Amino acid sequence: MGINIDYREIYKNEEINYRNLLSSLEKSFHRKDFFFPDIVLVDSVFTEGFAKSVGAFHDNILIGITTLVLKPEGSYIKEIGENNKKICEVRNGFVDLKYRGNGIAYEIMKELLKLACNYEFDIVIVKVHPENIAAVKVVEKEFVAVKNIYVADNIPRTLYKKIIVK
Ligand SMILES: CC(C)(COP(=O)(O)OP(=O)(O)OC[C@H]1O[C@@H](n2cnc3c(N)ncnc32)[C@H](O)[C@@H]1OP(=O)(O)O)[C@@H](O)C(=O)NCCC(=O)NCCS
Repeated sequence: MGINIDYREIYKNEEINYRNLLSSLEKSFHRKDFFFPDIVLVDSVFTEGFAKSVGAFHDNILIGITTLVLKPEGSYIKEIGENNKKICEVRNGFVDLKYRGNGIAYEIMKELLKLACNYEFDIVIVKVHPENIAAVKVVEKEFVAVKNIYVADNIPRTLYKKIIVK
């Protein structure tokens, strides 16, 4: 893509832009079983420091975001098979419809992996609906599939992991 995109962590001053982008894209998330914005998670990025987000900016306009959850929850965390390892989770990734298919989600994910390394995590996990081709393609560039699981309402997810090399 012949345009410059900047990737950086999103702080409190971007909160309105974050929420505006998410609501403007609501109609583009037509498969609710693929992606349903987790507003509680968005709140936690800005209030509790429990999650960190990285954004993509075109001419200083926010066009894509993904979040790293520093304290992931779920029974599958224990099943990941690595005792005493620090685990974090990539979640809530989305890119403005107009910009999709240009490698932006992948670049954001690489920034999140750097962040995970800086925070001294050992393993990063991510869950993707197996039919969400775009998301699967992005994730499989860095992660390996571990197992098939179900999340709320029996929605399928492939659980992936990546071991951070320090
Ligand atoms: C998933 C999403 C974040 C990807 O963003 P993106 O910036 O377009 O991703 P990238 O450009 O880095 O990569 C997308 C890949 O999927 C491919 N792709 C996209 N749609 C596709 C389709 N319908 N069929 C086949 N391949 C497809 C692209 O060609 C690209 O592959 P490549 O890198 O091998 O060329 C974006 O599609 C999105 O916002 N979707 C809605 C929200 C969502 O589902 N989030 C994921 C939750 S786990």
